[in-house]
Amino acid sequence: MNTVILGSGKGSNAEAVLRAQAGQLLGNARIKAILADVHDAGILRIAQENGVENHSLEGGSFKTKLDERTEEIWIEKIRLLDPELIVLAGFMRVLKSPFLDAFGGRVINLHPSLLPSFKGLDAINRAFEYGVGITGCTVHWVNEEIDGGRIIAQSPVRIMTGDTLEMVEQKVHAVEHMLLPAVIRDLSTGAIPFPET
Ligand code: GAR
Repeated sequence: MNTVILGSGKGSNAEAVLRAQAGQLLGNARIKAILADVHDAGILRIAQENGVENHSLEGGSFKTKLDERTEEIWIEKIRLLDPELIVLAGFMRVLKSPFLDAFGGRVINLHPSLLPSFKGLDAINRAFEYGVGITGCTVHWVNEEIDGGRIIAQSPVRIMTGDTLEMVEQKVHAVEHMLLPAVIRDLSTGAIPFPET
């Protein structure tokens, strides 16, 4: 299953996916390429260190979405990679219908909270400040609504009284690093079905 990862940041989740691939733990999935909208994003370095095709593309005139022309460029570039799955791993732009339709809705996103709680930016911090006892991470299908697509899988994280924000962040990232490769594996083997198009 040809898989393309999009990211904007550090790339620790892409790294976890590549580690799973190296350990034959990614089922029939193969990471074809990693694309970023930030030219010096850590995720691109991780791709390079692992010998994975990688591209930095301009994000265009908006900060949190792709403008029309930029979106066309991204679609063209990704089409050439012929993906059966697109994984948003810390990709900080909202993708809308032209993009989602171009890839038959086969786009998943990783979010650092137990959706539908704490949609949007800064989710770990907001859950921590709110004082919830359990947070976690979610992998979901991407639709037009921000962090609103159907949930595929979740992992919980317990927040203990003495935990600092940094500790909670570490715990959430640790479960993300296990959940995302497992979901990609299960999609590649058919254990998790793709949506009907
Ligand atoms: C992850 O925690 C992911 O859940 C989050 O960005 C981080 C990326 O980390 N995504 C979002 O907040 C999307 N709304 P990474 O670059 O180290 O994989």
